Amino acid sequence: MHGGIEHKFGVLFVCLGNICRSPMAEGAFRAAAQARELACTLDSAGTASYHLGSAPDPRAIAVAQRHGIDIAGQAARQVERDDFYRYSHIIAMDRANLETLRTRAPRNATARLAMLMDVVEGQRGQPVADPYYGDDAAFETAWQVINRGVDGWIEKLLREAAQQSA
Ligand code: 4NP
Repeated sequence: MHGGIEHKFGVLFVCLGNICRSPMAEGAFRAAAQARELACTLDSAGTASYHLGSAPDPRAIAVAQRHGIDIAGQAARQVERDDFYRYSHIIAMDRANLETLRTRAPRNATARLAMLMDVVEGQRGQPVADPYYGDDAAFETAWQVINRGVDGWIEKLLREAAQQSA
């Protein structure tokens, strides 16, 4: 704790399988939030159930590791009803993920739904392309794209926290 009023955000990152993009986003965001002293609860989940309980894809683990971040301990899970109340922000990797979330959101859900790249200048509505069927270069590209989105969200949430305490 760093004194002053604590603003606790809850951010859930969502992709299709929860083994590639959203685990990378969770890992990248955790490191960035720690560096910027942004207090938050983080997790990731998939809209699909193909990989329940699985660790991230080895290629996702490898690219994160190359950038100094360990995501190997994550386990895939599916988005569930409580997520729409437990998290303040649910951040989808692509349009299909966002549409699935909108379909599943309870009517009185409190979480705000958005896409990762919405907060990056000129990238509103753009997806993080799925690297699952790609090569190592596709994972490196996804990592770079995800980190631009993560940085944008960190800045946005830091601004929101400052406004709340003003
Ligand atoms: P992710 O990538 O949504 O970024 O985790 C995928 C992982 C698995 C599958 C599709 C995308 N799959 O079809 O099994």
